[in-house]
Amino acid sequence: MNVLIVHESLFGNTRHVAEAIAEGVREGRAPASVSLVHVDDAPTTIGDDVGLLLVGGPTHVFGMTRPGTREDAQTKGATPAREGVREWIEAVTPRKGLPVVTFDTRIHVRMMPGSAAAAAAKALRHRGFDRAERGETFWVKDTAGPVVDGELERARSWGATLAGRVAHGVS
Ligand SMILES: Cc1cc2nc3c(=O)[nH]c(=O)nc-3n(C[C@H](O)[C@H](O)[C@H](O)COP(=O)(O)O)c2cc1C
Repeated sequence: MNVLIVHESLFGNTRHVAEAIAEGVREGRAPASVSLVHVDDAPTTIGDDVGLLLVGGPTHVFGMTRPGTREDAQTKGATPAREGVREWIEAVTPRKGLPVVTFDTRIHVRMMPGSAAAAAAKALRHRGFDRAERGETFWVKDTAGPVVDGELERARSWGATLAGRVAHGVS
């Protein structure tokens, strides 16, 4: 079974995290094969070979990005993107029973609520992915990054743990 990682990243931080998760999936004690795709290129039909779907993006204004927040990011130097996780979730055909785990990046500020991972998990369940659950948040130092020290290692070991779940058929 394969792991599909769909991610969105304006400044590259969530992409680095997604790459580290993918490494963990490949290198864990029970490795699984993995495809890492940006939302702009992500399939809207999940292949039958996919046994675990991971969906990750940056937190913008307490939740998933929107066209306006992505434009805002662009004015701060981010790479333009057609779509975000929010739009992809609206477009993808749901698959009942598929384990789905979300992740996000955000800035570590005390008392700052909201998480794209939480919002994405909720939106995915609403869309029909009945087993979607919120996974991890990974911290960045500032809007453009970088990722906080140690977070990529944490992402790698999280990926390794998730791969074990696919290999054992447990979710
Ligand atoms: C328009 C905008 C809104 C943001 N809102 C939040 C927020 O509500 N909470 C937070 O922790 N970080 C917020 N951030 C910081 C992002 O989470 C950070 O830029 C992101 O994690 C970087 O990931 P990326 O490099 O993959 O785009 C915001 C950033 C932008 C550009």
